[in-house]
Amino acid sequence: MSSVVILGAQWGDEGKGKIVDHYAGHADMVVRYQGGANAGHTLVIEGKKIVMHLVPAGITRERPTCVLADNVVIEPNILIKEIQTIKDAGYKISPERFRISEKAHVTMPYHLMIDQLREIKQARAKIGTTGRGIGPTYEDKVARRGIRMGDLIRPSILKERLSLILEDRNYYITNYLEEKPFDIKKVLEEALELGDVLAPYITDTSKIVYDACKSGKNVLFEGAQGVMLDVDGGTYPYVTSSNTTPGAAAMSAGVSPLFIKNVVGVVKAYSTRVGEGPLPTELTDEVGDMLRFQGGEYGATTGRPRRCGWLDMVCLKYTTRYAGLTSFILTKLDVLTGFPEIKVAVAYEVNGKRYDDLPYDIVSLSGDVKPVYKSFPGWTEDLKGASNIDQLPKNARDYVEWIKAELGVPMVMMSLGAQRGEGIESQNPFEA
Ligand code: GDP
Ligand code: IMO
Ligand code: MG
Repeated sequence: MSSVVILGAQWGDEGKGKIVDHYAGHADMVVRYQGGANAGHTLVIEGKKIVMHLVPAGITRERPTCVLADNVVIEPNILIKEIQTIKDAGYKISPERFRISEKAHVTMPYHLMIDQLREIKQARAKIGTTGRGIGPTYEDKVARRGIRMGDLIRPSILKERLSLILEDRNYYITNYLEEKPFDIKKVLEEALELGDVLAPYITDTSKIVYDACKSGKNVLFEGAQGVMLDVDGGTYPYVTSSNTTPGAAAMSAGVSPLFIKNVVGVVKAYSTRVGEGPLPTELTDEVGDMLRFQGGEYGATTGRPRRCGWLDMVCLKYTTRYAGLTSFILTKLDVLTGFPEIKVAVAYEVNGKRYDDLPYDIVSLSGDVKPVYKSFPGWTEDLKGASNIDQLPKNARDYVEWIKAELGVPMVMMSLGAQRGEGIESQNPFEA
């Protein structure tokens, strides 16, 4: 019995949703610990696809209590719609098994507006955000002018805070973004209505998570985005606005980091990225198009085509160290079927200089970074039905064994298809 963090080891969209859904079958609690509705976590259960943006991917399982912890940022309209979608799909979601931290910050209508308009106004420094108000919500949190979920059910506090906050935000909106100011009465009314709907779910989640950890329950901490998008560890400023790494899980849930026994990185068998910023192994040719086509690489939140490229071992070794992975899960190996040659970046060359580690100035060097590739012969067999690693073609096995040796931590599962159950599990991280 133990607590496990499952997080993305690349630029997001590694297949975390599918993996969290799988392990949630063994979990007593699933805690989403950062990010907001920028995330899109896809589950395919009995042929039906469902995408979670805020609600933990464990909600489709009977057993776990699902929690949105302190450092998640919540857009209430999106959450309410998502709860309805989950109900419509036939899954149970009630205040008994879905809890929202009263300390989680609220993405307000002005956050959405600021996020979207800023990308236009400052087009030369565009991040390519999801437009879900994530950056502005976290900015306000740190600037101590945030609204928390607990405020939505306390009308007098909400009114007082909104009047102060809107004074500040409206100045920015009218003077810098040259837009109409938000009307406090309207914002307040809408926020209170949304608060009424969500009130039964809002509580002190730190106590619930603590009790589960303390009594030795299986607690799964679900990450969003990926280590390369971490606000400190990622390709800054082309990152999201939260920490995606395991320390953030304990901090957000309000429990000791010592409860965490395993940190499992989800590694996609190649690289993708949505939005701006460096992707050293990006392929802008027909090989990249084939990866996008075979992998269905389109954003689960925005529908944008994902940028695709070969696996990047420089980044992966960095994220294995930075996030302290104790094991990893390889996903989407099936997508590589049919490529005559498969490459992996083992180092970068920049103007004649070799880098074996991720350079600090990866962003400014970006245009000059040339990956040093190791090449693997491909395979043509469909991998989907394999239930044992020995059933994979030799070339696929060699590719996997090489990744395992490079990362130096055990591989606990291999995902070979989008459907629940497609893949090979070698170890349950709760029992390791
Ligand atoms: P997340 O954000 O990390 O949860 O990943 P996304 O859901 O945004 O993107 C992963 C996509 O790949 C989704 O469409 C999944 O249904 C799909 N997927 C997940 N694992 C596999 C796999 O092993 N093979 C294939 N072919 N698709 C997968
Ligand atoms: P999941 O959890 C992939 C990217 C955006 C943009 C940058 C900042 O599904 O893996 P933001 O809206 O967070 O301010 O955008 O981060 N991004 C993601 N990319 N998967 C995600 O989530 C992402 N969430 C944000 O595309 O480049
Ligand atoms: Mg996603």
